[in-house]
Amino acid sequence: MATNLPAVLGGDPVRRPGTFRTTPEVGIEEVLYLGAHVAARDWEPDAQTGGRPLAEGLTLPRNVLEVLGWEQAALAAEFAAVQSPAWPTNVVPLDNGTHAIRLALAALTRVGPVLGLRPPQVGDEVLVPALTWQATAGAALRRNLVPVLVDVLPGTLAMDPEAAEAAVTDRTAAIVAVHPYCRMAALDRLGALASRLGVGLIEDCAHAHGAVWAGRGAGTIGVVGTFSLQGSKSLSTGEGGFALTGDESLADQLCSLVTCGRPVGNSIEMQADNDRMPGVAAALGRAQLLRFPEQHARRVATLGELDRRAADLPGIVPLDAQPEVDVPPGYKWAFRVDLDRFGGMSLDQLRVALEQDLSCEFARIYTPLTDSPYYRPHSDDGLRLSDDFWSRINPARYYSPEAWQAYDSVLAAEHAALLDPGFPDQFATAVTRILANCARIARDVRP
Ligand SMILES: Cc1ncc(COP(=O)(O)O)c(C=O)c1O
Repeated sequence: MATNLPAVLGGDPVRRPGTFRTTPEVGIEEVLYLGAHVAARDWEPDAQTGGRPLAEGLTLPRNVLEVLGWEQAALAAEFAAVQSPAWPTNVVPLDNGTHAIRLALAALTRVGPVLGLRPPQVGDEVLVPALTWQATAGAALRRNLVPVLVDVLPGTLAMDPEAAEAAVTDRTAAIVAVHPYCRMAALDRLGALASRLGVGLIEDCAHAHGAVWAGRGAGTIGVVGTFSLQGSKSLSTGEGGFALTGDESLADQLCSLVTCGRPVGNSIEMQADNDRMPGVAAALGRAQLLRFPEQHARRVATLGELDRRAADLPGIVPLDAQPEVDVPPGYKWAFRVDLDRFGGMSLDQLRVALEQDLSCEFARIYTPLTDSPYYRPHSDDGLRLSDDFWSRINPARYYSPEAWQAYDSVLAAEHAALLDPGFPDQFATAVTRILANCARIARDVRP
């Protein structure tokens, strides 16, 4: 019967195309915030004028106001209130998540010693997960540091603390842990390792807006937390980012580094670039933030339901539950596939079949950095600092079997789909009919 045929074989899709939202959204709030921003002429660094009023009970952070402007300071205060309501944190808005990591490593070279942390210096090593977007490692390269690619835990796709421990050398100067997709890094064990070594733990929270670990917002547990606000993220300004830190001096240093090394508060002199977030992006971000708490709650509810349903669906395996996680990241719903149950289908055939049935993106996860087309340090001659440095940044030196195993067996559904409480049902229907037709899909579908 035609209705039981998956869309990839000519049946009707379970879900109609065009029903998902895009980010950043544009509605009346965005028009109001952007309009007020432009009317306030708040586009000069150190502008003291405002756009839409600041949310009640909040105050503008002095350092952000001083070097960036009113709109950015308002966004910083409002994001801090959403991401870390119960724990004081300083938010520094900037141009993107990649630069947030680079500046966190740079700031530690100056303020690290004041905090009793080793300053990451040229040729030192930074532990990063092998399964991440290349920016996590690339940011370390830009500081002339050696990214050491550490394998991940199969159940969370995040850095394996035991593998991290095994990768430590006397050059280890920082750990950058990523909270991937809908899970968090093992912050307790990685935090303990960082403390023992006397190095900074940076949380790369590019996926983890709204996530909470043991009562504390993601990004507030490490010495610095970095966020991306790029277009694919669940909170977006098109492009943009944040660096969060509980330490005032680090916040001053980050503010200074964001804006060409201008002195601010307790900052220490250091050559720097322009990594400012424009006021227009901040105004857009403030409008998106109005929607975020309600949307994140919906995504989290759908994620939980998808994990529960996955446990009963043949061939679909949820990632591990994490008792320490009070609220998970809601970037994408990642799940493992037992391809043996799909009668000869490849992961890409399943991906295409799901996409056609559910009219949303089902992505392969990151290609592990040990052999990723996007992470090629040796394509940049500027990194040839010495023969020794050149050979140490070769990604092929590192071994990450779990990351590759995950790459071959995990898919991730886009966050827009998670806003729909009907999605788990639709997913189950799609998987059931794909399973019933797997031999034909394996034979006839070109991914
Ligand atoms: C895990 C991770 N880290 C860092 C980044 C870099 O963020 P941005 O694109 O804003 O530079 C991304 C962006 O996709 C990411 O996914």
